[in-house]
Amino acid sequence: MLIQLISLFPEVFPGVFNSSMLFKAQDVKAVEFKYINLRDYGKGPRQQVDDTPYGGGDGMLLMVDPLVRAIEDAKKTDPKALVILPTPRGSSYKQSDAKSLAAEGNGLIIICPRYEGYDERVTNWVDRQYSIGNYVLTGGEIPAMVMVDSIVRLLPGVLGGETSAAIESFQDDDKTIEYPQYTRPESFRGLDVPEVLLSGHHAQIEAWRSSKRRIKNKT
Ligand code: ADE
Repeated sequence: MLIQLISLFPEVFPGVFNSSMLFKAQDVKAVEFKYINLRDYGKGPRQQVDDTPYGGGDGMLLMVDPLVRAIEDAKKTDPKALVILPTPRGSSYKQSDAKSLAAEGNGLIIICPRYEGYDERVTNWVDRQYSIGNYVLTGGEIPAMVMVDSIVRLLPGVLGGETSAAIESFQDDDKTIEYPQYTRPESFRGLDVPEVLLSGHHAQIEAWRSSKRRIKNKT
């Protein structure tokens, strides 16, 4: 899967993407990242990418022209790629979205807005708009990292244990949460590992784990 990220701050990604599971995913060629600096598509000698909003108001907006040209270039590399826009106005991003994006296996082009937002006309070049929660961040880079991490770990060959993805939290979106887990030592400062987990009784352990799976209430 080729994931192309359009950003004014592409230098923020490699620290996260070149570590741990995401490093492994690149190593086994499950995913490849390409960083596109939006500044390269800026207008004029100052490579301007933002301007004031029509109708007035605070802050600056990313202009449509540099964004669309960056998207078009990314599409030349990968014509079938889905264009994703992280925005607080998008539909709320869920585990089922990560699963379907991983299963579809198309390349992704993720736009990372900055400043006060973007010219709405760019949405004509966007396939999906997602919010990662009901709070406002300073830009799209962190939401892009959240989405990439949740998708890439589901790609074939990335997650080690075959069952890990099947038993983990949020399998059915926002309902079940994984059970609590423990490792050595058996006792730490008076806090003991639940006896049943030391018993070797697989059926009892399964029953205990099922009883501890929380059903998350919608809030
Ligand atoms: N950009 C700023 N805040 C965001 C959020 N909560 N989700 C997605 N993109 C965002």
